[in-house]
Amino acid sequence: MTELWGTSRVEPGMTKDRTMAIESATPDLKKIVAGAADFLPLLGTDYVELYVGNAKQAAHFYKTAFGFQSLAYAGLETGVKDRTSYVLVQDKIRLVLTTPLTQEHPINDHLRKHGDGVKVIALWVDDARSAFAETTKRGAVPYMEPTVEKDADGEVVKSGIKLYGDTVHIFIERKNYHGTFLPGFRPWKSAYNPPPAGLKYVDHMVANVGWNQMNKWVKFYEEVMGFANVLSFDDKDISTEYSALMSKVMSNGNGRIKFPINEPAEGKKKSQVEEYLDFYNGEGVQHIAIATDDIVKSVRDLMARGVEFLKVPSSYYVGLLDRVGPIDEDLAPLAELGILVDRDDEGYLLQLFTKPVEDRPTMFFEIIQRKGAKSFGKGNFKALFEAIEREQENRGTL
Ligand code: FE2
Repeated sequence: MTELWGTSRVEPGMTKDRTMAIESATPDLKKIVAGAADFLPLLGTDYVELYVGNAKQAAHFYKTAFGFQSLAYAGLETGVKDRTSYVLVQDKIRLVLTTPLTQEHPINDHLRKHGDGVKVIALWVDDARSAFAETTKRGAVPYMEPTVEKDADGEVVKSGIKLYGDTVHIFIERKNYHGTFLPGFRPWKSAYNPPPAGLKYVDHMVANVGWNQMNKWVKFYEEVMGFANVLSFDDKDISTEYSALMSKVMSNGNGRIKFPINEPAEGKKKSQVEEYLDFYNGEGVQHIAIATDDIVKSVRDLMARGVEFLKVPSSYYVGLLDRVGPIDEDLAPLAELGILVDRDDEGYLLQLFTKPVEDRPTMFFEIIQRKGAKSFGKGNFKALFEAIEREQENRGTL
């Protein structure tokens, strides 16, 4: 196995903290993940691309509300005639926002069907040709044959495969490239530069898939991508009085890439996954979880910038420390901001979820700070889903 837990290799796209977190993984988790195959070594998340109705305005929103910084641009001024892309960065996170410029562009079909949403989860690899060959050989449907793109700063090899819904993985090999982002993009110098909000890297990205489709995509990540199923939640773990869902967490061999996959389960009323599938018109990315080193500071900052978060009732904080044990943080600011806490065998985590960031109730963000915990906040599911149901009730979609 070329990339595993315990690697001391620090890549440019990886913080020292993350390396240390990986090194401190318990033997049990190491064993599970070591079961993942090594035919697809992944170095990290390269970028996440959203197709949006108006990339210029979306870029302004992500800078203003989330503290992303201007990085690169492609469009009419750089010789791209049919679309515009803005690339934003915050620490290790790169967000690409793309809008079509012409009536006949196929991206319009994506927008009409889904609204704004994630099209590409780009994965950083050493060898994009091998990533394509190994995954398609195991059954992946090709999206992009290996393609070399060049400019004065070197060359990048890209390839891609299809996922659930209209979502895709693009493999990016950039070892022979030293430009700002990718060939065809130029640095984007903006006079408007709101400060960052302390957001560090993509912790995990969650898929919503259709009824009885979860295990199909678990199998895809196991067989085609060499991932391992590290955690599972059934409808008994994730249900409220009204709605339910099931979820399995897939991880690659070095633990840097984690994709939980949700499917709806039967409940008295419509679950949040069904609401998503209705409004997105199919399967897609439900949320992007972003890590911070100081969740109180980041969330306070994001709220002041206008980001809207789900709110649990104040009763959540009664007896919280009895449930989760001692934590480093003061309880008062957590309760004031509505930050949730959960503990597993290895430590605890703090997390909070935004409301959907589009008018359709589809994709949202999670802000997460891990203090040893490697899990996903199972203890918060009930309070959280009740909060989501209150939002669904307001929308008339429960
Ligand atoms: Fe999450």
